Amino acid sequence: MKLVDNKATLSFSNGSPSVEMPVYGGSIGPDVIDIRKLYAQTGMFTYDPGFLSTASCQSAITYIDGDKGELLYRGYPIEQLATQADYLDTCFLLLNGELPNETERGDFHKLVTNHTMVNEQMQFFLRGFRRDAHPMAVLTGLVGALSAFYHDSTDINNPEHRRIAAIRLIAKMPTLVAMSYKYGVGQPYMYPRNDLSYSGNFLRMMFGTPCEDYKVNPVLEKALDRIFILHADHEQNASTSTVRLCGSSGTNPFAAIAAGVACLWGPAHGGANEACLNMLEDIQRNGGVAKVGEFMNQVKDKNSGVKLMGFGHRVYKNYDPRAKLMQETCNEVLAELGLENDPLFKLAKELEKIALEDDYFVQRKLYPNVDFYSGIVQRAIGIPVSLFTGIFALARTVGWIAQLNEMLADPEYKIGRPRQLFTGAARRDVPASFKR
Ligand code: ACO
Repeated sequence: MKLVDNKATLSFSNGSPSVEMPVYGGSIGPDVIDIRKLYAQTGMFTYDPGFLSTASCQSAITYIDGDKGELLYRGYPIEQLATQADYLDTCFLLLNGELPNETERGDFHKLVTNHTMVNEQMQFFLRGFRRDAHPMAVLTGLVGALSAFYHDSTDINNPEHRRIAAIRLIAKMPTLVAMSYKYGVGQPYMYPRNDLSYSGNFLRMMFGTPCEDYKVNPVLEKALDRIFILHADHEQNASTSTVRLCGSSGTNPFAAIAAGVACLWGPAHGGANEACLNMLEDIQRNGGVAKVGEFMNQVKDKNSGVKLMGFGHRVYKNYDPRAKLMQETCNEVLAELGLENDPLFKLAKELEKIALEDDYFVQRKLYPNVDFYSGIVQRAIGIPVSLFTGIFALARTVGWIAQLNEMLADPEYKIGRPRQLFTGAARRDVPASFKR
């Protein structure tokens, strides 16, 4: 970050002296006003619920231009990465800043596959959960529990510990997600197979059984890999900010990532793909395409509390570039599986068409986000709806850990400690009559 040839002046109508604040610029994107000394100079805080105008950190990992509908990982457009790289290349890029050369690629793949197994004791921990527990409840527990198993990579002040924890998390997440699925359906866990690709191995751990060989379908393998790439990072979203805030206290990386998993679960964030598919199934049950108009009227009625899930985004106000790529993958997967006439896909396309022409959505700049189509792809692959957010967590783990490690390596990092505008009771005494 560098000082730009500009200064911000804050003046007050009550005659208090005005304050000058430095302005910094990044490589692209909006400049920032440095308000760090504001409280010391004025005795006032800034007020910004939801962080609509607040940059909480400097970061060199992911850049989003919401107006252009652009997403860059380390400068590379998501469209190019989704078609020219695989998920592990993307992980290497996010963690290290550059795409791997051939040797680095081979070494990185080997390193990740060497860490795919989880401690055998994890199975017994898993057994404590009800079989019908939501996979995100199970995953929050399993990821947090990793810190109880890998004591040699929990010191966040040690760069080598941070490096190993990153690899362990990326390598073990597919194993944990597949275990939470197998536990729910009462099937034996499948150990990882290191001769398969990252997504091929995950498909086998999910859908293989010890009774017969599992053949990975290359179209589904590629589709899943693309889902992973598209979800790998998304700058300072709610779960990533949660991971940074949690990690800023000095807690271990596994605990910080578990906090990210918990945050991602919410329906306004990672839970949206699950909520979107449930919404499509609901409309389908209640009359399908013929009822779309009625449903849209509910969405536009502020009092109904109904939202078009998979639409709208805090940052993208033009289109979500990931949604386009996901729609392409959706076509490929449905064609491969002979599901071109899938009624939910038709319904989704109809909803999208109506919404894109409707004034309500146009005026508010609401476009489909990645979740609008990712649920249909995952459902076609055979992934149960309740596991969708778990797949998202698996893919986002690399983003979380890259952002956490970036923060910890920053000499300016401090424990995160927001302020507040207090609106409760001022100091008062407990009534003398109130005695137990
Ligand atoms: N359906 C109907 N109306 C919507 C929707 C929607 N999906 N999204 C936003 N709006 C409306 C709001 O009601 C509001 O209208 P108003 O100005 O008349 O009050 C306006 O559009 C602006 O919406 P906000 O909620 O202020 O926008 P914000 O940026 O805070 O919210 C969010 C973004 C949370 C993603 C929202 O669009 C939403 O809830 N979408 C549905 C859930 C979803 O798909 N989430 C996935 C996000 S992507 C991800 O996590 C991978």
